[in-house]
Amino acid sequence: MSEIQRTLVMVKPDGVRRRLVGEVISRIEAKGYDICELKLFTIDDDLARRHYAEHTEKPFFGELVAFITSGPVAAMVVEGPEVIAAVRRIMGPTNPLEAPPGSIRGDFASAMTENLVHGSDSPKAAAREVDLFFGESL
Ligand code: RTP
Ligand code: MG
Repeated sequence: MSEIQRTLVMVKPDGVRRRLVGEVISRIEAKGYDICELKLFTIDDDLARRHYAEHTEKPFFGELVAFITSGPVAAMVVEGPEVIAAVRRIMGPTNPLEAPPGSIRGDFASAMTENLVHGSDSPKAAAREVDLFFGESL
């Protein structure tokens, strides 16, 4: 039996700037998953640092925070069977140059930072991130 899960998906500022919000949502919906929550807003410095807490010590952390706060994101909660891993497959690998055609990053991105989408990488991360982005509105 497959487990019904929820995950946090985000179209990053480059995707919003390039008007690819609809494209990302279309692919998730076409696969059969439900969008349960959705909001367009600009992430502030505090939320960016908490969201990317696991990367605090990485050399690219400053660039990551600067980018994710550089304009509005479309954040959403997506629900369905085994959706956490499924969204990661729909997105493709972190490095768009390694992402196969047919994946979102493979089709639309070419830079490591500006890789267009975010998806929670585990049930634990999904619970934490859904609460971080939508805790007060759920
Ligand atoms: P995301 O969290 O954005 O869904 O991406 P991910 O799980 O595939 O990758 P993760 O390891 O969590 O890294 C978060 C974001 O940091 C940027 N990154 N840059 N320069 C680098 O070596 C590097 N490594 C990661 C990427 O933008 C990645 O999405
Ligand atoms: Mg990640």
